[in-house]
Amino acid sequence: MSQSDAIENLFEEHRVFAPADEFTAQAVAQASIYEQATQDRLGFWAEQANKLHWHKPFTKTLNWSEAPFAKWFEDGEINVAYNCLDRNVLEGRGERVAIHFEGEPGDTQTYTYSQLTEAVKRAANVLNGLGVTKGDRVAIYLPLIPEAIISMLAVARLGAIHSVVFGGFSADSLATRIQDAGAKLVITADGGYRRGKASALKPAVDEALGTNNCPSVEHVLVVKRTEQPVEWFETTDIWWHEAMAEASPEHEAQAFEAENPLFILYTSGTTGKPKGILHTTGGYLTQAAFTHRNVFDLHPETDVYWCTADVGWITGHSYVVYGPLANGATQVIYEGTPDSPHPGRWWEIIQKYGVTILYTAPTAIRSFMKLGRSIPDQFDLSSLRLLGSVGEPINPEAWMWYREVIGGNRCPIVDTWWQTETGAIMISPLPGVTHAKPGSAQVPIPGISARVVDEHGHEVDNNHGGYLTLTEPWPSMLRGIWGDPERFVDTYWSRFEGQYFAGDGAKKDADGDIWLLGRVDDVMNVSGHRLSTTELESALVAHPWVAEAAVVGARDEVTGQAIVAFVILRQDQLEAAGADADVSRVLREHVAREIGPIAKPRQILVVSELPKTRSGKIMRRLLRDVAEDRPIGDVTTLADSGVMGAIAGKLSTGAQD
Ligand code: WTA
Repeated sequence: MSQSDAIENLFEEHRVFAPADEFTAQAVAQASIYEQATQDRLGFWAEQANKLHWHKPFTKTLNWSEAPFAKWFEDGEINVAYNCLDRNVLEGRGERVAIHFEGEPGDTQTYTYSQLTEAVKRAANVLNGLGVTKGDRVAIYLPLIPEAIISMLAVARLGAIHSVVFGGFSADSLATRIQDAGAKLVITADGGYRRGKASALKPAVDEALGTNNCPSVEHVLVVKRTEQPVEWFETTDIWWHEAMAEASPEHEAQAFEAENPLFILYTSGTTGKPKGILHTTGGYLTQAAFTHRNVFDLHPETDVYWCTADVGWITGHSYVVYGPLANGATQVIYEGTPDSPHPGRWWEIIQKYGVTILYTAPTAIRSFMKLGRSIPDQFDLSSLRLLGSVGEPINPEAWMWYREVIGGNRCPIVDTWWQTETGAIMISPLPGVTHAKPGSAQVPIPGISARVVDEHGHEVDNNHGGYLTLTEPWPSMLRGIWGDPERFVDTYWSRFEGQYFAGDGAKKDADGDIWLLGRVDDVMNVSGHRLSTTELESALVAHPWVAEAAVVGARDEVTGQAIVAFVILRQDQLEAAGADADVSRVLREHVAREIGPIAKPRQILVVSELPKTRSGKIMRRLLRDVAEDRPIGDVTTLADSGVMGAIAGKLSTGAQD
């Protein structure tokens, strides 16, 4: 059976939610922009780009002559930080709050656009004083504190290139990234607050740089956040607060060509070596700003926006830093974990700041679901008017819970599909225009061409599945992999002639709406039938006993692959069901009923945690190791490295079907 046939019957979703009339009446996005972009795609993007300030206007929109290496707005000159800062101040928004910072211990800071502009000017002078100029690489290894945003913007202001490394990465990962980019400067902090305590960062930098391991690094700029003691190296280390106090608050932004690089962001690929995804300025900012305004229906005068991502990920780059600030938005950033000091912290923050737009990940939503609605119900969430989701497919049950419990049934939900590589949102409903369907990212945004294709690269019909590709260049596309142009061409442009291969499986339903089915390497083949792990997980969490599920295909002598499901149960529901409930039998029957006997898991393993990366993605590779009874592979990117021991232990005590 081909993949197209096998996923033909998945995702029979008939619930559709039209936007409320009041929402449509004030919506930023109008249905007419689809039409406009279809008729003149490049003209449409040029119009969006012209909403930014160009020191020198561009006359050419796209140069695709060296495909797949694109140049957008190439003869224009722009300064990204000027667009995010000075322009807001000059146009009268200086007193508007740019950032409400909430530290995990409860300390707060507020930056207006004027204050943020001044801080970035000072920081640009500090960096300049340390010899950072156009094209230099600066590694940023900080908690989610205002200095992270200030650092990124200061680097951008100088036409230099930042490489933000998530604070949860180890010294080794940091060193690899510093070496690959040849960073001249590292910006870090003594530590940050996570899970109720100060967690050190500087020692990881010291270790990464130790024994001349990273010879490109000349200085380390250190923000004082936790006041924990740090080892100090006089020749390299400089306190951020001392340098900032001495720096001049005057700095004039210089213009750089639109294709000047803005950042490198490392992401994992199929090999061990992370890929340094390269983004440039003009096109990137154009699409980040356009999508932030239209997908989140941003009304910058009144909205309070909160994206829960860390700046260490692409979501933090595009939707904490560049999109919101280019649009003059007021936003909340929060340093810590959702459950510190109590499980209602996020809802408390929404209530405190009157958050109107919330953008988060399905994994967070599902973990809140697991705790039950009584926690969010204790807070006033009535300020919310729009909800967003990103990072993985959101199963319809989590979508409905998000809508009902968090959104009070009144907020449109935008399920946004995109990648580190795409730089900005590519597939998403537009609130006020699209009738939303739980679980589907639905349609490419205006100006974007996406397809679902078969093995030969031919577009499939509605009701069929295949691979997601992008068929036209887009402004915020990656411009390559740092130092490895061949890998860029091989990874993304070789599988289907002339199309960008995203690595995701997808299906078009009867209406032509797109459903993302997870990475294609997560698609299982059972007795020649292809099944998506996402589909299985969605079915499992639809059962009232199941809070979270992860499914893998394990090698099986008879069927090729067999389905192994790891599930976390909801204690309250289970207690109601009684002590003698046969979890395994009930859930296997449930899946068989939901999808068909072919989808019945071979094994159901009840666990108390799932192995997740620090960005919240389930590491199925490790679960596959357990399911296939082989030694567990590399666990260094796990958020909690103890989880695998507990799961493997469970297996050996025979807690299986
Ligand atoms: C997945 C995060 C389904 C997808 C912005 C993609 C999604 C990968 C969605 C990129 C979504 C992201 N629905 N799947 N709305 N958003 N993905 O680079 O598999 O961390 O290829 O970028 O996440 O992850 P990345």
